[in-house]
Amino acid sequence: MSKLSISATIPKQIRKWVCHKLECFGEYIEAYTRALDDNRCCYLELYAGCGNCICKGTDCVIEDSALRALGTERKFDKYILIVRDDGDAKNLKKLTAPYHTADIEIISGNCTSEKVLQQAFDLIPRSASSFALIDPPGYRRLRWSTIKKLAAHGRDWRGHKIELLIIFPLEMALLRNLTRPECQASITRLYGNRRWEELSHKRLEGKIGAEAMRRQLVKLFKGGLKGLGYKHVEDFKPASPSKQPFYHIILASDSKLGTKMLKAAWGKERYLPCELLYNREGQNIGER
Ligand SMILES: C[S@@+](CC[C@H](N)C(=O)[O-])C[C@H]1O[C@@H](n2cnc3c(N)ncnc32)[C@H](O)[C@@H]1O
Repeated sequence: MSKLSISATIPKQIRKWVCHKLECFGEYIEAYTRALDDNRCCYLELYAGCGNCICKGTDCVIEDSALRALGTERKFDKYILIVRDDGDAKNLKKLTAPYHTADIEIISGNCTSEKVLQQAFDLIPRSASSFALIDPPGYRRLRWSTIKKLAAHGRDWRGHKIELLIIFPLEMALLRNLTRPECQASITRLYGNRRWEELSHKRLEGKIGAEAMRRQLVKLFKGGLKGLGYKHVEDFKPASPSKQPFYHIILASDSKLGTKMLKAAWGKERYLPCELLYNREGQNIGER
């Protein structure tokens, strides 16, 4: 953890819950890579950031998901990071430079575009396994067509599709916008169908409460992933520093390995880097 004065939009400011998410992800990806053994695996990040961020209120500079994936003890064979613009790409390139022994490719562009996604696919060696982190800044940026393309990309030597870890933006206005006519198109783009409308009608008629609604929205998305042929589709509600977590975790995989790791990383109370009792090596309160 270091301190830095905030001068521009890079690094971006984040709130405490994002720091919590990154801490959980760091632990998850460490456990995931440890379980890879000798298998070749590519790391793909669709909505990568600029490498670091600043926590609002504390000015802590925090590594984002890409740097955490690069920092694991057992490395991925390749890292493919898709950032939105050249500014983020430049900063990420600078921050990933110390990891010069790793095979890192940074693509600048819209990750929902066919061309950009194809650029990423072309970099994945045939028959290597892949893990994709999908962490959009809100539900409007996530499209079912992108998920479908990832699932259809190809299979590794074990016949497994790209594993997807989705930070599902449940509270990033999806729930709130569900009954707004002007949001219909973006919600249909997210789910790839109009089945969510049934839930919206129930909500308008007062037949479903907020908690049941959250569960149903996640269930609907999971149903879509199962329809793409994933053998294991799990979800997990993060133990969050705020009352209602802003996101939900969804994992789609052809291997059942990740489920336990999800619970271990996201299911426990933890300290953050700005807190006195934080310990990066052993953040798990339950393990103390
Ligand atoms: C929620 S942040 C996640 C960043 C990173 N995964 C992390 O945890 O720190 C979402 C990121 O996606 C980027 N982004 C937004 N729309 C995008 C798009 N269409 N294609 C690629 N990146 C995008 C934003 O610039 C932002 O950095």
